[in-house]
Amino acid sequence: MVNYKDLGLVNTREMFKKAIAGGYAIPAFNFNTMEQMQAIVQAAVETKSPVIMQVSKGARNYANATILRYMAEGAVAYAKELGCEKPEIVLHLDHGDSFELCKDCIDMGFSSVMYDGSSLPYEENIKISRQVVEYAHKYDVTVECELGVLAGVEDEVASEVSHYTKPEEVIDFATRTGCDSLAISIGTSHGAYKFKPEQCTRDPKTGKLVPPPLAFDVLAEIEKKLPGFPIVLHGSSSVPQEEVDTINQYGGKLPDAVGIPEEQLRKAAKSAVCKINIDSDSRLAMTAAIRKYLAEHPDHFDPRQYLKPARENMKKMYIHKIVDVLGSDNKLG
Ligand code: 13P
Repeated sequence: MVNYKDLGLVNTREMFKKAIAGGYAIPAFNFNTMEQMQAIVQAAVETKSPVIMQVSKGARNYANATILRYMAEGAVAYAKELGCEKPEIVLHLDHGDSFELCKDCIDMGFSSVMYDGSSLPYEENIKISRQVVEYAHKYDVTVECELGVLAGVEDEVASEVSHYTKPEEVIDFATRTGCDSLAISIGTSHGAYKFKPEQCTRDPKTGKLVPPPLAFDVLAEIEKKLPGFPIVLHGSSSVPQEEVDTINQYGGKLPDAVGIPEEQLRKAAKSAVCKINIDSDSRLAMTAAIRKYLAEHPDHFDPRQYLKPARENMKKMYIHKIVDVLGSDNKLG
């Protein structure tokens, strides 16, 4: 059993309180590789931002849970080495699908876990969420739970259709589970194909898809029911069209990839939404840089040569999100 405090990590409690009061959101970036971890830490240190580094079940399968845990511990040391005296880094389990998985992460030093029972019947979701909360709180680990279903595919989580969170359920759910934050569904979606073309309109000038707006009325109703309670948005990549274009230009094939417009995320960040999950944008930034580099340097084969621009491109994207979209820069301490 390792407690996250011994690894220099923090939980989300104070972070979320300050974010709600200050009208900004904490970035929750997924990571699977060393380059992603380095880019996240560099971006957070340069902007003086708190950050949530999150690990999905798919990331654990890909990289190995122990390695990821040590990478997060390394992230704290790296941030200090880069000149940040008191980094605020959360190691979070994204989409935990069982009590056992959440417990395993808590026992190995995670400071925050998500139990996602959103696809289960309501009472079952409450029961397991409550069980996770009871265990986590013994170690001061914070817990995110979910109500409502997001469409899209993310690692092992997939759903064809979305169901908005029902505002009339949130008080009962938050009270009975004791969760520290609530992930809701208001129209965001996992992956790089968030909307089907028939759900969108098309910009006549560029031919690009224009997605439907998020359900801010549902968010407002939830906020009214749970004033000041931390709300989380999953599936919040913007799918930058310049990265999609670069990928397509250099041999990729991502037709009609579309995300959540950044102005809408900025608007959400000013409300009780205090954690915004971004994964696909990092995948796109990495792939675009690697495709471009390899196309322009067909004789290169050292991974360091193409992973360096990939890391730079991800860092640029993370800084942009922190400063221009979520507003979490200069919020340490
Ligand atoms: P994106 O696919 O929009 O990046 O969402 C990631 C996410 O919500 C992780 O839980």
